[in-house]
Amino acid sequence: MKKIIFTTFTILTLGVTLFAANNKEVYTSQNTLYKQECASCHMGYQTEFLPKRSWVKMMDTLENHFGVDATFDKVDEQKIREYLISNASDSKRAYGKIAKFSRSISSQSTPLAISEIPKFKREHNEVPKRLIIQKDVKTISNCMACHTDAKQGLYKERNILIPNFGRWDD
Ligand code: HEC
Ligand code: HEC
Repeated sequence: MKKIIFTTFTILTLGVTLFAANNKEVYTSQNTLYKQECASCHMGYQTEFLPKRSWVKMMDTLENHFGVDATFDKVDEQKIREYLISNASDSKRAYGKIAKFSRSISSQSTPLAISEIPKFKREHNEVPKRLIIQKDVKTISNCMACHTDAKQGLYKERNILIPNFGRWDD
């Protein structure tokens, strides 16, 4: 009996550890360059939202990145490009909400924004515009303003807290 309990405990611990390690690896970017260069103007978006072709296109057009110049050192650009490619939605097994979003992208399209993904649009079309353009949010790209768990990549409904509005119950 003792042995069974011990084994069960070991398996459970191992499972939790693996899950935690996996979680961290998948959604919390540990890549220093990515954090430095791609999370300076906005949050470091989870790379698993978009497929390889999107990231390649984005890296090819950094001189006009949503109206701003986001170019930097060419060597660093190359390293980030590689990082993005190997962590794209079609390079690794994603899970949770992020996987659901990326799966809604048609193979014919190459979105440059997560907020352009079909499922993203469906999920957010009920959010009133005034709550988005208000000064505490500004743009729909500012995920962290409403999703308190955006940085961890969870985006749970119960963790949504919209400034000057509160919790979201639909
Ligand atoms: C100089 C500032 C700046 C830098 C550096 C920058 N970005 Fe952006 N990025 C923007 C702006 C401005 C937008 C438009 C959205 C907004 O209003 O915040 C944007 C939007 C995005 C979006 C789309 C957000 C959405 O709505 O889904 C992605 C993805 C993105 N950036 C990725 C990157 C990556 C990857 C890098 C690094 C290679 C990077 N950004 C570096 C300024 C920057
Ligand atoms: C103005 C606040 C706001 C901003 C900014 C915002 N969201 Fe949301 N998001 C919501 C609300 C509200 C919902 C829930 C919609 C519903 O279920 O009716 C939602 C839903 C979601 C969901 C699905 C959650 C679920 O339970 O299925 C994901 C994933 C998500 N958002 C990701 C993002 C990402 C990524 C960004 C930034 C690129 C973002 N959101 C920006 C308010 C926001």
